[in-house]
Amino acid sequence: MSPSLPDHQNGIIAHCVSVTVNGVHYSVPNTYSEVSLNDFLRHHLHLTGTKVTCREGGCGVCTVHVSLPDPAQTGHFLQRSLNSCLCPILSCDGWQITTVEGIGHQGQSHPIQQALTDHYATQCGYCTPGWIMNMYSLLRKEKGKRLTTQQIEDNFDGNFCRCTGYRPILDAFKTFSRDEESGLGICDVEDADKSYCKKSGKSCVKVCTSWPSAFIPHVSDLPPEAQLLAPAWHKPTSLAQLYRHAEQKAGKNVYYVVGHTGKGLFDDGPYDAYVDLKGIAQLYTVTKTDTLLSVGANTSLTDLIDIFERQAAAPGFAYLNSLVSLIGKTAHVAVRNVGSWAGNLAMKNRHKDFSSDIFVAFTTANAKLLLGPDNQLCSMEGFLTLELRGKVILQVELPAYSDDFAFRLYKVMPRATNAYAYCQGGFRALVDKQTAGKVIMMVTPALVFANIAPTFVHAEETENYLTGQDIADPQTLATALDILNHELQPSQDLAQSSALYRRSLAVSLFYKFILQLVGDLADIRLRSAVGAIVRPLSSGTQSFETKAENWPVTKALPKLESLVQCTGEAKFISDIEEERMLHAAFALSTEGSATIAGIDTTVASKFPGVIRIVTASEIPGRNSLQIGTGIEEMLASEKCLYAGQPVALVIAVSSNIAEEAAKLVVIHYADVKSPILTCEEAIGANSFFDLGLKDLLVGDAESSMDSAQVVVEGQFHMGAQQHFHTETMVTVSYPTEDGLDVQAGTQFVDNTQAVIAQACGLSKNQVNVSVRRNGGGFGAKEDRINFVAAASAVGAYLLRRPVKMHLSLWDNFKIMGRRPPYYVKYRAATDGEGKLAAVILEIYLDAGCTLMHGNERILSGLPVFLNNVYNVPAWKITRFACKTNTPANTFFRGPMSTEAVYMMEYIMEHIAHHLHKSPIDIRQLNFLKEGDTVLMGTKVTGCGVQPVLDQLLQSADYQSRVEAIQRFNKAHRWRKRGIAIVPMRFPVHFYPGDVLHWNGGFTCMMAVYHGDASIAVTHGGIELGQGINTKIVQVVARELGVSMDLVRVKPTNTMTSANARATLASLTSELTCLAAIECCKQLNDRLRPVKEAHPKGNWESTVEQAYKDGLDLSARAWYNPRSKREVYSTYCAMCSEVEVDILTGQYQIARLDCLYDCGESISPYIDIGQVEGAIVMGLGYFTSEEIVYDAQNGQNMTAGTLRYKPPFAKDIPVDFRVSLLKNAPNPSGVLRSKLVQEPPLCATSSVVFALAQAIQAARDEGNADRSWWQKDIPMTVEKVQRYCQTDISQMLVRTGSDKATCAFTLLHSALPHR
Ligand SMILES: Cc1cc2nc3c(=O)[nH]c(=O)nc-3n(C[C@H](O)[C@H](O)[C@H](O)COP(=O)(O)OP(=O)(O)OC[C@H]3O[C@@H](n4cnc5c(N)ncnc54)[C@H](O)[C@@H]3O)c2cc1C
Ligand code: FES
Ligand code: FES
Repeated sequence: MSPSLPDHQNGIIAHCVSVTVNGVHYSVPNTYSEVSLNDFLRHHLHLTGTKVTCREGGCGVCTVHVSLPDPAQTGHFLQRSLNSCLCPILSCDGWQITTVEGIGHQGQSHPIQQALTDHYATQCGYCTPGWIMNMYSLLRKEKGKRLTTQQIEDNFDGNFCRCTGYRPILDAFKTFSRDEESGLGICDVEDADKSYCKKSGKSCVKVCTSWPSAFIPHVSDLPPEAQLLAPAWHKPTSLAQLYRHAEQKAGKNVYYVVGHTGKGLFDDGPYDAYVDLKGIAQLYTVTKTDTLLSVGANTSLTDLIDIFERQAAAPGFAYLNSLVSLIGKTAHVAVRNVGSWAGNLAMKNRHKDFSSDIFVAFTTANAKLLLGPDNQLCSMEGFLTLELRGKVILQVELPAYSDDFAFRLYKVMPRATNAYAYCQGGFRALVDKQTAGKVIMMVTPALVFANIAPTFVHAEETENYLTGQDIADPQTLATALDILNHELQPSQDLAQSSALYRRSLAVSLFYKFILQLVGDLADIRLRSAVGAIVRPLSSGTQSFETKAENWPVTKALPKLESLVQCTGEAKFISDIEEERMLHAAFALSTEGSATIAGIDTTVASKFPGVIRIVTASEIPGRNSLQIGTGIEEMLASEKCLYAGQPVALVIAVSSNIAEEAAKLVVIHYADVKSPILTCEEAIGANSFFDLGLKDLLVGDAESSMDSAQVVVEGQFHMGAQQHFHTETMVTVSYPTEDGLDVQAGTQFVDNTQAVIAQACGLSKNQVNVSVRRNGGGFGAKEDRINFVAAASAVGAYLLRRPVKMHLSLWDNFKIMGRRPPYYVKYRAATDGEGKLAAVILEIYLDAGCTLMHGNERILSGLPVFLNNVYNVPAWKITRFACKTNTPANTFFRGPMSTEAVYMMEYIMEHIAHHLHKSPIDIRQLNFLKEGDTVLMGTKVTGCGVQPVLDQLLQSADYQSRVEAIQRFNKAHRWRKRGIAIVPMRFPVHFYPGDVLHWNGGFTCMMAVYHGDASIAVTHGGIELGQGINTKIVQVVARELGVSMDLVRVKPTNTMTSANARATLASLTSELTCLAAIECCKQLNDRLRPVKEAHPKGNWESTVEQAYKDGLDLSARAWYNPRSKREVYSTYCAMCSEVEVDILTGQYQIARLDCLYDCGESISPYIDIGQVEGAIVMGLGYFTSEEIVYDAQNGQNMTAGTLRYKPPFAKDIPVDFRVSLLKNAPNPSGVLRSKLVQEPPLCATSSVVFALAQAIQAARDEGNADRSWWQKDIPMTVEKVQRYCQTDISQMLVRTGSDKATCAFTLLHSALPHR
């Protein structure tokens, strides 16, 4: 043992680190060791332009730019983007940090901020600063270089946007490239780095003072309780210091901090100490000889890629390029920028089931690791099993290989970027092709697989078998596949894909590699297996029409709030931060079905900084989130109905403390049962809610089945979808002298006001709820917000202090209901041609644990959409609401319509398959015609389905693409393409309250101010990103005949918008515009006499005169629709083309064309944004977003970004074309427009049917029979591969007479699907 040394000799930071943020220096005390850079910016500096969502590096909303001294001590500064949520502030010693506030503000915006605004690329705007800073960082990094469009697109593999559909963001950023052909504002990289002055059009010279910056930093202290909890932070500057420290801390849990990104994957805390390794220059060294490349442990993945790319030019190291191909798919740019390879491997050592890309890459290369303090050299396999505690990884040594060696590394993921692998395969081999027709495996190959089982690395039996064999011999391949198939024994892991899939994938990857080695000795069709689908650069087109005579209505304009969203000045409720504010978190149940025997808060309440813990009995008012008789508990009192249900409310001095303490609340359970988690389990257990819904009967559907020439029958599942709004549920409540002032992230202020009043035992007039904007909502914030709103209000009411509750994404996922899953059984009768005679549906909706109004309304509203575009003479619809142990499900963009359209389209596909006809012909044969009656009794008028389809068939060049796809599929055995069209009709009702329990109305209040004649508007709708405020301003400006600049929209609140309706169902923008038009009418009527008396006056003088005349310059309108009839329908047709890698299930949406009928769009770019956003959200629902529950206790295994996979920028259609129907004024709509927010989502199932077609082409080649097969959604990569029914007996090198004769033993039956 070394004698104890003074702190500074041990590398302990004595006092503080020095950080520069936007040019201002700060000293941060060493007690801030648990404070992230994100917390520091948002909570301590109040720089809330940098947002926060996931806190695990998975969404990119928190991205900032840093300029840091090269830790390798080269004297240079490195330019990097990083995720501030994962970066400890103490890690930033000497760094210069730039946030979105640091590059521009609305008076003087940065070109990047302006580009996003000009490209209409923001909706809710919560993700926007993260995108901007990632782009900014790229420009800084590549300063003085030519930036290509491809580089720009590749840079955005880690930023999430739930609203826009990504296309406009990518388009905006591509204007900074040098190869952009559009000529749109091409910006010089160097110039872009300087702030432009909007006034002069020149670079900012920092003298302009006309726009006061909103960001004068104010530094808040860390609460003393949090300082108490902080582990020590050490920063050794040499290995010797590090080793001394390691010796002293032997046996302790020490975090060796490099990028600290590991925190995003595993929480192995609490830690006894943090040791920042970045001060040790030796850990950054790179050395190279002719035979060995050594790279220091601290090297970031970004630098590792650069080093490998450079060294690949040297003899013996060309293979590093294949390693780059895998490491380039690890995490995403901002994580790779700071995350080290050694940190990655250290996590693999600790968590054997971590599917580390680095481990696969280095093992395939047969690298060795040098470990300190003993300078022990160990193999990758040896590293996996050694005890790393007390040791330090120092460097990796990569050997040289002759250029004759073949390398290939594969990673198969659930989406294109930023995802863990389903499985990785790393292959190295040396083959001899001297003898004609033979490919001899010269030395033992390396066949490395990850994600099979925790310690499985090499397929040794297969490696040994292959040594010396001729792999071009079909029999050799057959035997090798058989051995491999037996050798791979995947573990079962709920959070992973199924064991069966992972094994099948591993075998497929091996087969791909063998075909690569065999080269042209393999059949050309089979060689389509080699490699992976390469995604070209994406592009998009948008077309629409505008009518200049109606401007600003129909004019394509950026969102009004776009610029302040881009500069970070747009304030969200989650940005509110004040001294003395308390923070709340829920303690959640961990059992899905149990009785609460007791709640022990003893330990939690002693946690430093905890102020109070509230349980159900302490709620001052009624413990229910439902108004009226229904009960849905805010805090569970007796029963746990699902895992993740709030049981106690912890209120503390900081949100971190509240969350930590919440984990310490102990819930004692009794009567624990296996949870019911699916519709089928609910059917088995007879677990239903009684909705009293009668069967819907039209004609005699049962008799039609008996007499029909053709009956198709089947069943399918539709999955759930998490809303994943980037601003998670948030509310801030302030006690007032007579009640509460509440800022709630709600879509329904009236309901939130009522629930809060009820929970606190107050009357509604004591509760003032207001909201300016939400960072997305998509239906969840209609009433699911009330968990958080009521909890924050109860906290503030009880403690007489402001209480903020901003849910973590993990809790948001666990607590809140989702788009409900469905299980559907169907029968459809047709004549011999496929014309429908009847449809019978049994629809099971998983309502979750509580019957809320949402579910009731979904099931009663769903039949409105069931026809879609088809005429069905007879119906029988039976509906069930299954009661399960999952959160109460709720509305999600396009509720009812999305699912109903899929149900009907599924049936059309089945009929076409059965009759061997083209799906598009069967669809057209059944199209609704003028005067037909739909299920709910409405007669169809103004039917637009055929013209919309005809136009799309032509513009999408459908027929010739069908033929091209047939040719492609014939030429390729292992790649298949498919194309499908889904037409859609969305009947629009202005739903009076009594139909769907949406009472209340759409309000608008307007004030015109004398003096400058400016206009303020407030309305009952909520700005969620859908652009309602912009449309209102366009309409008001048009109706009053004024410039849009004169009109401002104010936040919504329960005083000015009392009894307002929920912002839901795509209607609010339209109906609120009607209320605004009514306000304008009132004002115009009042001003008319003034105008007549002063005909030469303008708006300003008229207003001034009216003021002098004593006229009321305010107006208020209330729009409450009374009609129950369908007001109009909107139409859409969508054509999707996909390409599938049959062996892996990975696919790419090559092209998507959407033609949408928006009437005369009020605001074309806002509406196109809605179409694109809805499509990409639909892609997530139909393909990649899957929720998995633990069957034992019902816990959500996919809560967070690591396992839940909505589409990212590289998942969108490569060629993305959106058109708004032209010459289509809607006489029944608001200013001849049609609504848009939800309907396009419904047609996105075209992707599923395109995939199904590609899969069918693969099945047709295999052994599968040609009968109809069940297509469940989401159609994940895993499902696609499974549906292809690829079998190792089909994995040949040559087709025809020399097929393999080996009798395969498939183990499929022994391995259950998840
Ligand atoms: C959103 C996200 C997505 C990701 N996706 C992938 C993926 O697809 N594939 C994949 O392989 N990885 C993935 N990762 C993991 C990522 O590669 C690692 O987080 C990163 O490489 C870790 O490096 P770090 O420097 O940040 O480690 P840190 O977080 O600083 O450290 C991680 C661990 O390593 C230990 N450690 C660090 N250096 C040493 C050393 N020299 N000797 C001994 N122990 C040490 C630390 O004590 C700590 O326990 C992802 C991570 C995130 C956050
Ligand atoms: S909040 Fe940091 S990446 Fe999501
Ligand atoms: S605009 Fe991207 S998440 Fe809303």
